Amino acid sequence: MCYAQSLSLTNRGLSFHAGAVGCTLHMTSLSVKTMWWSRLQSRGLHSSCCLMKKLSSKTPAGQRWVLRQLRDPYVKAAHQQNFRCRSAFKLLEMDDKFRLLQPGHSVVDCGAAPGAWSQVAVHRVNSAGTDPEVPCGTVVGIDLLHIPPLDGAHFLSCHDVTDPTTQAKLLELLPDGQAHVILSDMAPNASGFREMDHERLITMCLSLVDLAAKILRPRGSLLCKYWDGILAHKLQEKLSSVFGSVQTLKPNSSRKDSAERYFFAKMYRKTVKR
Ligand SMILES: C[S@@+](CC[C@H](N)C(=O)[O-])C[C@H]1O[C@@H](n2cnc3c(N)ncnc32)[C@H](O)[C@@H]1O
Repeated sequence: MCYAQSLSLTNRGLSFHAGAVGCTLHMTSLSVKTMWWSRLQSRGLHSSCCLMKKLSSKTPAGQRWVLRQLRDPYVKAAHQQNFRCRSAFKLLEMDDKFRLLQPGHSVVDCGAAPGAWSQVAVHRVNSAGTDPEVPCGTVVGIDLLHIPPLDGAHFLSCHDVTDPTTQAKLLELLPDGQAHVILSDMAPNASGFREMDHERLITMCLSLVDLAAKILRPRGSLLCKYWDGILAHKLQEKLSSVFGSVQTLKPNSSRKDSAERYFFAKMYRKTVKR
């Protein structure tokens, strides 16, 4: 649920009547009511009515999600800057600091849907060839879900990163079968059990080390999301065994109350199989 414009919510408490359209919405506080009213005023009455119909069918958890989206400046900025979701700002922030994406680079974006990280990568590695002055790179995105097309990116929609068939296709799409950078913002569907979700994501991240052995160039980089927990050190150790340096990152655009972290591993030490 990370499209910047996805809105849906109901709420309990104060009653809020949207004038001419005759839709009634129950809100929890005056500030929420005021916020909604200004949102509604900035949209047409028709879309306001549709929005409120959607709102009335959601659970309290859904309501909280939408309220958070509405208050989030990164959601608004993503919408204004045509990013497919707010996570674009996390990659922009980390790349501004560490310059892992360079023009001409080949990048694999694991868990790419809906495609915001790929949008950033296409721009930074110049894979759409928009800047004739710098080398043209490659971006390949993979996801279990459908990824809407993007100029400058090859997408393997409905593909599992851990599947050997996917990895074989990747080898064909990458120049010389090699990538400079592996990005992973992959996440399993949250079960609601924090420890279980943490373990599942760590297992997914560990599989990226095997992927690196197949496609990552010597001195290449891996940036992967994980949810912090008891097994994070295992992943860090595994990464440290094959990369020259591993850093933990928490970009400002990553919500403070989330366990989300990133490992940025660089200087890959490729072991040559004999
Ligand atoms: C947080 S979203 C990624 C958002 C993306 N970075 C963006 O900026 O648009 C996580 C994605 O990981 C995908 N995913 C989870 N497990 C996967 C797997 N084994 N192979 C491929 N994609 C996977 C999910 O389908 C989901 O779309």
